[in-house]
Amino acid sequence: MAFDLALDNLRQRQWQKLPFATPVPIAELPTPALLVNESRLDANIQKMARYLGEREVGFRPHSKTHKCPVIAHKQMAAGAVGICTAKLSEAIVMAGAGLNDILITSPLASISKVSVLAELSSTVSGLSIVVDQMANLELIVEALPAQGKVGIVADVDVAMGRTGTRSLDTILQIAKLADAHPQLHFVGIQHYAGHVMHIEGFAERQAKSLALWEQVAEHVAALTAKGFAPEVVSGAGTGTYNIDSAVACVTDLQVGSYVFMDQEYLQIGSEHSALFDDFEVSLTLAATGISQPMAERAFTVDAGYKSLASDTVNPEPIDLPGAKFRFGGDEHGIVVLPKPGGDTPPIEANNLVGRVHQFVTPHCDPTVNLHDYYYVHDGEMVYEAWPITGRGCSW
Ligand SMILES: Cc1ncc(COP(=O)(O)O)c(C=O)c1O
Repeated sequence: MAFDLALDNLRQRQWQKLPFATPVPIAELPTPALLVNESRLDANIQKMARYLGEREVGFRPHSKTHKCPVIAHKQMAAGAVGICTAKLSEAIVMAGAGLNDILITSPLASISKVSVLAELSSTVSGLSIVVDQMANLELIVEALPAQGKVGIVADVDVAMGRTGTRSLDTILQIAKLADAHPQLHFVGIQHYAGHVMHIEGFAERQAKSLALWEQVAEHVAALTAKGFAPEVVSGAGTGTYNIDSAVACVTDLQVGSYVFMDQEYLQIGSEHSALFDDFEVSLTLAATGISQPMAERAFTVDAGYKSLASDTVNPEPIDLPGAKFRFGGDEHGIVVLPKPGGDTPPIEANNLVGRVHQFVTPHCDPTVNLHDYYYVHDGEMVYEAWPITGRGCSW
């Protein structure tokens, strides 16, 4: 019953673009509103696709960042070899919007979820899932319907300690069973080092990431020696896209945040600059100034924890140089203005309330998960809304 309810909910969701009969200015949106600048988004997708294409590395973007089939279709049109989803429910949403070649990057460990996966496998072409224990693979074998086919990717943990196996024996057993079963296919391995992505400073990030890939390369060699050469060695993210793409054994990158960029990523620094500005900020949050109890010192906007998710840093005001955002609770943010006489020009404090201001999001993925739509704009006018169809898909 619970699964029927959850599945019905997913099936009823809309995913297609919703064009506006008449475009509206950003200032007229129902704030807090999540904005996407489409030309910047497209530039990011093209830049990543081109960068990886030139290096003959596959582009397997992670849709956990945007949860939006419209964007996933753009990524496929740019040459992606497939998309990733973090969870089964995201895969159902993407499949419902006509996407194929989906890799689910988190393991499933219960028969109820594996049964849903098995059902999905008869309608999606190129459905793969990571597995890190024989018991989970055996569940898949048990649940598969006659016409289902599932690609199996062994999830390898080298140092993060989140999902995956550290045992070469387990990896070999997974490969052997997947290779032998007529409805399974041993695709290869995944190695994702999330704890490396946000290391500040390119040199340190590079050294850490390459050291981990050396251990993965040993697994690849061992699999190959036993006759299970992986077709796919997938992993990495935005923070290491130009590091891991140079690793010989890597076949494709699961880059996610580069489509939008966020404050957490901007501050890690790139190869040549203190700011990680290889990609443009295409995602912002629009919020309206609603109150000003501290007169010249600060003002309050209508966006707090319910519209901006953060695990470390704060949102960054875009049109108010020197101002700093701090959370004022669930529904409010307090924008503290720079002190007069500092490095930045003074901000006129008496027209901030009633105006719409934009902020770079602190962490794009969980912020997206708080919204129903992207409002798509060209810098001034909003001309479409794109449903965030995978909102709340955390199962
Ligand atoms: C397994 C996996 N691959 C790829 C990514 C994408 O990472 P990023 O958003 O840093 O590009 C994530 C993000 O959390 C992930 O969990």
